[in-house]
Formats: sequence, C-alpha cells, structure tokens
Amino acid sequence: MARDKIALIGSGQIGGTLAHLIGLKELGDVVMFDIAEGVPQGKALDIAQSSPVDGFDAHYTGANSYEALDNAKVCIVTAGVPRKPGMSRDDLLSINLKVMEQVGAGIKKYAPDAFVICITNPLDAMVWALQKASGLPHKKVVGMAGVLDSSRFRYFLADEFNVSVEDVTAFVLGGHGDTMVPLVKYSTVAGIPLPDLVKMGWTSQARLDEIVDRTRNGGAEIVNLLKTGSAFYAPAASAIAMAESYLRDKKRVLASAAYLNGEYGVKDMYVGVPVVIGAKGVERVVEIELTGKDREAFDKSVGAVQGLVDACKKIAPDLL
Ligand code: APR
Repeated sequence: MARDKIALIGSGQIGGTLAHLIGLKELGDVVMFDIAEGVPQGKALDIAQSSPVDGFDAHYTGANSYEALDNAKVCIVTAGVPRKPGMSRDDLLSINLKVMEQVGAGIKKYAPDAFVICITNPLDAMVWALQKASGLPHKKVVGMAGVLDSSRFRYFLADEFNVSVEDVTAFVLGGHGDTMVPLVKYSTVAGIPLPDLVKMGWTSQARLDEIVDRTRNGGAEIVNLLKTGSAFYAPAASAIAMAESYLRDKKRVLASAAYLNGEYGVKDMYVGVPVVIGAKGVERVVEIELTGKDREAFDKSVGAVQGLVDACKKIAPDLL
C-alpha cells in the first residue's frame, strides 16, 4: 500500500516539529511548504537524514509552490505569523486572515479531498476562514486547540497530584483563548472527577482554580518565556494526534475547533467541543448538557469567537 501524503503548509517551528513527528510515527510521506525559499527544502532534507538513525521510512520534500500539495490526504496549516510578547492571538487576525485566503485557495485547487487541520491563530476564526476559502466540507476542516489545552490541563493536574499523565483526563470547551472553559467536573484522575478529589483532600479548591487559570494562560506563559515566538512542541504533538485518528480511523474523542450547526446552540461557527475523528473526518459532535456557570462561561467564549469572526467578515466580505 502506498504511503499517505501529508502536506505541511507552513514550515516554521510547528511545521518542522510536525514533520519530525510524522517520520518518527511513520504516518506517511511529508511535503513541507512555505513562502520562505529554502526553509522547507532544508528542513525536509535535515529530517530525512535523521531517518536512517531513527529507522523510519518516509519521503520528504520541500516546496514553495502549491502544486506540491497535489493529492495530499492530510493538510496541516501553520502558515502565518506567531505571537510576540504582549501580542494577543487576536492581534494576529488581519495578517493571518490574508494567509488563510491564499492557503485555502491552494488546498481547494490541489487537495480538495484532504482532511485539513488548522493551527494558525487566532484559531477559531482562522479555521472558519480557511473552510470558507477552501470550500471543503465542514467535517473535513478542523482546528487544533482543545487537544493542546486539555494536554496542558492534564500535565498541570498530573504534576499537582504526582500521578501519571496517562491517568489524567481533561475536558476543555470553548474558544482557544483566555475564555476557554476547562470543565472541572468532567476532568478526572482514573475516572475520579476533580471535585471528588478536592473532597478527598488531594488538593484544595483554591489550588484547582490556580491550575485552571494557568491552563487558560498556558500559551501566553510560553510566549513570555520564549520571547521570540510561541509554543511549538505541544501544539505539533496535538495536531499529530488528530491526524493519526483520521488516517488510522481510530475514532478518538478529541476536543477540536469544529463547525457547529445548531449543536450547543451555536450556528455557522467553529468552537472547541469534543468530536469523534475517524476516516470520514469529524464523524460526530459530542454534545453534553451545559448548565449554570459552565453554560455562562461557554456562552462568553462563543461571544469572543463571534467577535473575531465578525472582524474577519468586515476585513474580507468576499469570504462569505
Ligand atoms: N504561505 C505559506 N507560509 C507562510 C505564509 C504564507 N502566506 N506566511 C507565513 N508563512 C510561513 C512563514 O514563512 C513561517 O515559516 O509560516 C511559517 C510560520 O512559522 P513560525 O513563524 O515559526 O510560527 P509557528 O511557531 O510555527 O506558529 C505558526 O501556529 O500556533 C500558531 O500562533 C501560531 O499562528 C501561528 C502558527
């Protein structure tokens, strides 16, 4: 069986890490694309030269032309500009919106059957714009945010409780930003919900609130430390989990920015919710009942995403 072709649109920090992980996991052949000349070619060659040492078989190419996307099974989009200290994800909006229009046109022309994962920020608005610009079915275009936000939450919780990250599950809803909604009662250690762990004396409510807060600001914490860019190892690993679930039809339940058409009371918007990802793309939106403070927080987050989408509509009315 021929290997699947995975196209990475954007070959910067996340793109390079994605390319390496795809090789290490033998998920397919890799095409790295970027507007910067030489960068995708150089990274592709460098990673290919590591394959004999690590013992993986994958073909790597670098390209500056969209033709290279031809027949890709998966496209992962990181093209655009990352955050600098003091910049919010929203500041990136107008720059990256233009990039999504170009990338969407390229995917439409050369890879219309692909499963597309958008990582470019501000995520929920960019994935919305990318779907519009590419015209691909909604279930084939998703945004990576929830897996990353959940992973950050899981890591902080595992560290707090001194248990394996494998035994911590987390549930994060809403937009990828300061308004995201980590759902404490659906987050567990080996099936024990966090509120029960507070009652059991494993941690205090105040500590838990701090961890939730740190999760919400997880991206900014790294931007402030790095000073020259934003996180890339964990974002890349998260997108790979989504790509793998699609390519291997694993049907994993992964929090993703997915198109909502009435679910959670939201229409024509991409917002972070749990979805089943399999060979058909987004095969199901998992709709849980939200009440009280969780509903309020979710609605606030949806409002923030709506604000960004409205800003996109103003800048690029042709996208509609
Ligand atoms: N077409 C293709 N590639 C582009 C374009 C474009 N129009 N504009 C910029 N790029 C490329 C840049 O040349 C660069 O190599 O996108 C790449 C982005 O890489 P980095 O600057 O290293 O950014 P990275 O850390 O990978 O993050 C990418 O993901 O998490 C988000 O906020 C982050 O929006 C950012 C994106």
